[in-house]
Amino acid sequence: MEQEMQKKVMLSGIQPSGDLHLGNYLGAIKNWGARAEEFDCYYFMADMHTITVRQNPADLRRRTLEQLATYIACGLDPEKNTLFIQSHIPAHAELGWVLNCYTMFGELSRMTQFKDKSAKHADNINGGLFTYPALMAADILLYQPDYVPVGNDQKQHVELTRNVAQRFNNIYGDVFKIPEPYIPKTGARIMSLNDPSSKMSKSIPDGCVFLMEKPEDIQRKFKRAITDSDTERCVRFDPENKPGVSNLMSIYAAVTGKTMEEIEAEFDGQGYGAFKPAVGEAVIECLRPIREEAQRLLADKAYLESVYRAGAEKASYVANKTLRKVYKKVGFVAR
Ligand code: TYM
Repeated sequence: MEQEMQKKVMLSGIQPSGDLHLGNYLGAIKNWGARAEEFDCYYFMADMHTITVRQNPADLRRRTLEQLATYIACGLDPEKNTLFIQSHIPAHAELGWVLNCYTMFGELSRMTQFKDKSAKHADNINGGLFTYPALMAADILLYQPDYVPVGNDQKQHVELTRNVAQRFNNIYGDVFKIPEPYIPKTGARIMSLNDPSSKMSKSIPDGCVFLMEKPEDIQRKFKRAITDSDTERCVRFDPENKPGVSNLMSIYAAVTGKTMEEIEAEFDGQGYGAFKPAVGEAVIECLRPIREEAQRLLADKAYLESVYRAGAEKASYVANKTLRKVYKKVGFVAR
């Protein structure tokens, strides 16, 4: 117990707004795994964030459970990690409101994700889409984490969280721990296979490899991956001049653990024709056990329910402790 109390805390979440993809895995989940001995870990399904964009309710419910099954299949043992569904913990919405009042309009206006999503969903630029980072700050600060393992695109939101926490602490004393973003060295920004200038995302499905996809579909996507139109056609890491090949190399490095030099040596003189299917094969082999285990877990709804219930109980306890402190500091009468 004593040791449990001294462990550093790690927390992260993913929106179940689409099927999980290789970017989510390499940028985030892979970096969460196998850390439970070292850290007190909280990972959640950020379902409340998804409704900033219209969702089909049945799909959202299905994907939330699939995401939980995939977390477990990726090696997050529910006995050692707290796995929960965001909307099961009312404290997220409650602290989210408070933090809205400590987050500036100017700060929110600068968020890249807001600018991207409002361009993509011009008919639904709602208040939630705009104030989303304040809810994300609440997601994080409720658990007083030391580290937030995310891909590169979420760094800006974690930085905003730090600023909001600092602002709050400057007024009320040490309420929140100031968390650090924890970004992987390889895989922090996986690009689309058919457009290496856009990040891999579910919105470009042809360039996106989903974790539950069939091996033959994955291989087809890799074989069709855009490589570069340069004349040398050799496998060399040069993100500026060879973004397509460099992206494939980052994927290969992240799934095999090889360095860029090792990869260059392995494919020396072979050209892209041999390289692309090799990356596909490595990804398929990396994802195969995850897909099989997730499918097995999905057949056992009672087990998944027991996991998210236990997760909610543990998460609520920690979250409510922080919320009580915040409510007291701002001057709300105790319940
Ligand atoms: P989301 O759901 O868009 O993405 C989940 C995680 O996957 C990473 N990621 C990528 N990494 C590398 N390459 C890519 N192409 C790629 N695409 C996605 C993201 O960086 C992220 O780590 N706002 C968050 C969810 C969230 C959250 C939180 C995260 C809500 N509350 C609290 C951490 C802590 C989001 O929209 O991520």
